[in-house]
Amino acid sequence: MRVLVTGGAGYIGSHACQRLLRDGHHVVAVDSLFRGHRAPMGLLGAEFGDRFAFVHADVGDRASITGAIDAHDLDTVMHFGAIAYVGESVDDPLWYYRNNVSAGIAMLEAIDASRDGRGVDRVIFSSSCATYGDPPEGMIPVPETCPQRPTSPYGFSKLHFEHILLDYANKRRSDGKPIALAMLRYFNVAGSDRGGVLGEDHTPETHLVPVAMQAAQGRRASMSIFGTDYPTEDGTCVRDYVHVEDLIEAHVRAADRIGPGVSEAYNVGIGAGYSVRQILDSVRRVSGTDFEVIEAGRRAGDAIALYNDPTKIKRELGWSPEITEIDELVSTAWDWFQANPDGYAKG
Ligand code: UFG
Repeated sequence: MRVLVTGGAGYIGSHACQRLLRDGHHVVAVDSLFRGHRAPMGLLGAEFGDRFAFVHADVGDRASITGAIDAHDLDTVMHFGAIAYVGESVDDPLWYYRNNVSAGIAMLEAIDASRDGRGVDRVIFSSSCATYGDPPEGMIPVPETCPQRPTSPYGFSKLHFEHILLDYANKRRSDGKPIALAMLRYFNVAGSDRGGVLGEDHTPETHLVPVAMQAAQGRRASMSIFGTDYPTEDGTCVRDYVHVEDLIEAHVRAADRIGPGVSEAYNVGIGAGYSVRQILDSVRRVSGTDFEVIEAGRRAGDAIALYNDPTKIKRELGWSPEITEIDELVSTAWDWFQANPDGYAKG
């Protein structure tokens, strides 16, 4: 494949670039570097040479996207470029819709303007379990047929773009230029590449696993558990933590197996839930350290328990996660944080 990876300098996008390059594909990463990092682009460039290129541009920059597709004769887009904090989306919804919806539309127009109007013929989109909001009774574990009723602008931005992609794919089919479309609804993605090159470095950092890493390293004086009075076994929220490399495997399988003219959505999560306390216990075991944990109040917008029903992705894509033990996942993150205590080199 010859793949455009939008958001390629971000946490998940960079892992996608690495995996595609390891498999022998040609990759062009596009990133505004607003939250992505230049450092992993340099690391991948050094390892994979001229099969990899980095374009410093926004995903909504039509000329850059069309130019990259034409210059490298790309046939596939993996669209990771987005902003992705639920709380931030509540504070600034228009900014979320501009980045996650309007910029995505511009990208589709750029695809149409490329390769003499032939465009690319495969699109894999990073959607989210946030499109489900709070699943109704009987829908946890969450199947793809769960009603999509987001509870945040972030979740709505991902759902709107799913609808836009479905309409776009229908139009491409009726124009005789069908695309294969996969919309992958991620659960909680965590961990780092087991080769030790790439990791997770967000500013601000709000995700549970990296926050706990920083606490275990003494880079935070303490951390908080948001809510200990939930109706779960230990009172804390339950989530489905999928290793980033397993997540990318789902993208590779979707790209391989979905045929032209077919549009499908798949949930990507291991199919089991861990509570916040279980994650923190794992970080203590893996790091061999203890750290101060404050039992704080609930965080607005948090669902009680969310984990995947992986039946569809197992059946149709033959996907199942390699990493299901939480300590194994956490140790991949710990190794990178220990090797890179200050995150990626900046600049
Ligand atoms: N948590 C803490 N303390 C922290 C950070 C998180 O207790 O310092 C808790 C949260 O309250 C939540 C759990 O840990 O119960 C996981 O929180 P994350 O912030 O790591 O992840 P979320 O489940 O909130 O978010 C993830 C994705 C989003 C997606 C969302 C859908 O990162 O992109 O799932 O529910 F929108």
